[in-house]
Amino acid sequence: MPISAKVKEFMSRGSWIRRMFEHGTELIVRHGAENVYDFSLGNPCLEPPQPFVDSLKDLATNPTPGMHRYMPNAGYPEVREKIAKALSKEHHLTILPTQVVMTVGAACALNITLKSLLDPGDEVIVLAPFFAEYEFYIDNHGGVMRLVQSDDRFLPDIPAIRSAISPRTRAIIINTPNNPSGVVYPRAVLEDLAELLEKASDEIGHPIYVLTDEPYRKLVYGAPAPSTLSIFTNCVFCTSHSKDLGLPGERIGMAVVHPRAADATQLLNAMTFTIRTLGFVNAPALMQRAVADLQEVTVDVQAYRTRRDLLFAGLMEAGYECILPEGTFYLFPKSPNPDDQAFIQRLLEERILAVPGSGFGRPGYFRLAYCVPVEVIEKALPGLKRAFQACR
Ligand SMILES: Cc1ncc(COP(=O)(O)O)c(C=O)c1O
Repeated sequence: MPISAKVKEFMSRGSWIRRMFEHGTELIVRHGAENVYDFSLGNPCLEPPQPFVDSLKDLATNPTPGMHRYMPNAGYPEVREKIAKALSKEHHLTILPTQVVMTVGAACALNITLKSLLDPGDEVIVLAPFFAEYEFYIDNHGGVMRLVQSDDRFLPDIPAIRSAISPRTRAIIINTPNNPSGVVYPRAVLEDLAELLEKASDEIGHPIYVLTDEPYRKLVYGAPAPSTLSIFTNCVFCTSHSKDLGLPGERIGMAVVHPRAADATQLLNAMTFTIRTLGFVNAPALMQRAVADLQEVTVDVQAYRTRRDLLFAGLMEAGYECILPEGTFYLFPKSPNPDDQAFIQRLLEERILAVPGSGFGRPGYFRLAYCVPVEVIEKALPGLKRAFQACR
């Protein structure tokens, strides 16, 4: 047996995107890249904004001695200070630089937090539909995922969450704006959840931490997403610049422990230790400096809105059922064929690549990532319509 049986099994379950990539490669060989419409990947199509490019140029032309060396594991103190200041302003809360850990993307922020919190067999609640990597991140640290379906608007179902809480519950992950649904959780729902978690924590005798996964926080089309840090106290805010500055390949993010979280200092010390021992060591040096002053800069969100509107209008016109997303760059329509995997196969006949809801723990739907050129959406719409009609 060359590899672990568990990893082998995870690989077979967690491979929707890879399978789509393989289908895409095949289709491109047969039809040419311009005739394949790939909505399978959440890879931003917008280039990083000019201030990022300027910041990089400045760092390259005015190097300082030691700028490529090791640093404190939690990141450069001066970078953490700038981030803490920006977050304090945004969330109307005094966040200290010591409460910020610079990370290798949001994925690292989640992993170091889970590693710091979980003992083997501890449970983490995840709300479906969900970013499929959570299951593997939780397992990385000996935890067990407890999946709870969201309601039919893809919002947290408070009674269902209550039923899933056990004495082993250590944390819940919430992702808003949400991948794959594009839904932004309203403040009232988050407040209900905070109340439930506070009561449940008292009952089970230890805090249930909320890991808020918010890499899409700034990709919203209406009002700003409610500040989770102003609603939850036992909270670790995990985010990155993968989407809002279009930098997923640069791996820069952060984890912020709420100043009044239970055992905040111990948790921060643990995260500073686990970022080292998990082998990340620290967030990339150049990227920390490059983004420190860009906390209020984003890619052109209107460009994603244009794509959302075009694709949503086309889907409605074709007859699909779908919630209008308020953020991210994903749409999560109902599959016209209840068998979402069969429908994805039908879309392949139209040279359209999408991911079935089953891949996000919500069968009967499919995800379209519209972070693609506008022409791709325009050219794909007739095929989306034909596929819908073929299933009626
Ligand atoms: C919901 C969600 N969380 C976390 C991540 C990982 O982000 P990062 O690239 O910053 O590690 C992604 C990436 O697509 C995501 O969609």
